[in-house]
Amino acid sequence: MRTERLVLRPWRTEDLAAFRIINADREVMALMPSTLDDDQSDAQGLRIMDGIATRGWGLWAVEAPGIAPFLGYVGLNEPAQPMPFQVDGKPVVELAWRLSRQHWGQGYASEAAAACLDFAFATLDQDEVVAYTVPHNTRSRGVMKRIGMVRDLDGDFDHPILEPGHPLRHHVLYRKRRP
Ligand SMILES: CC(C)(COP(=O)(O)OP(=O)(O)OC[C@H]1O[C@@H](n2cnc3c(N)ncnc32)[C@H](O)[C@@H]1OP(=O)(O)O)[C@@H](O)C(=O)NCCC(=O)NCCS
Repeated sequence: MRTERLVLRPWRTEDLAAFRIINADREVMALMPSTLDDDQSDAQGLRIMDGIATRGWGLWAVEAPGIAPFLGYVGLNEPAQPMPFQVDGKPVVELAWRLSRQHWGQGYASEAAAACLDFAFATLDQDEVVAYTVPHNTRSRGVMKRIGMVRDLDGDFDHPILEPGHPLRHHVLYRKRRP
């Protein structure tokens, strides 16, 4: 997919090296359970590549032609485990993003995410798409708001893969219905 400034594309093998740097960056990963070492990063990147190859969509590699070949990923995902919220009778499709620190603050995540929303409604025929994060991830929540997602005030939940008491367990939920 193309947007004004970006290309969202399947990953290339060489993206994995840039992904390692992103996943090792403490600032990028500050609100994740931990940074990832090279093996963990490669495994995650290969899973994402496999997902796109299998479904034809997923967490796309974001390229800014003339600026950088790999900014990180923005895209759509099916949660790996049942989530404690409903999405209008269809499998849950969530938006997710992770960009390198040097490419924050330029609207790239929001530009890419808006294109992914359009794809979810037009091509995947989703009636609704969700996104969620920890309450203090203001940058991620900023993307959600910028693309027109609205917080479900009754939708806060504890992430099922994190143990009780984990500081990142509590999440806020945003929704966007098909226009
Ligand atoms: C979440 C994340 C992708 C958001 O990055 P971001 O740079 O804040 O978001 P955008 O790319 O949409 O950029 C928005 C910013 O660019 C500014 N901007 C500049 N030019 C812009 C343009 N043309 N269009 C829109 N915004 C623009 C906006 O004003 C905003 O600035 P602000 O930070 O001062 O409010 C990034 O912080 C990240 O990768 N975080 C780590 C991973 C993570 O937490 N992922 C989410 C897990 S749930």
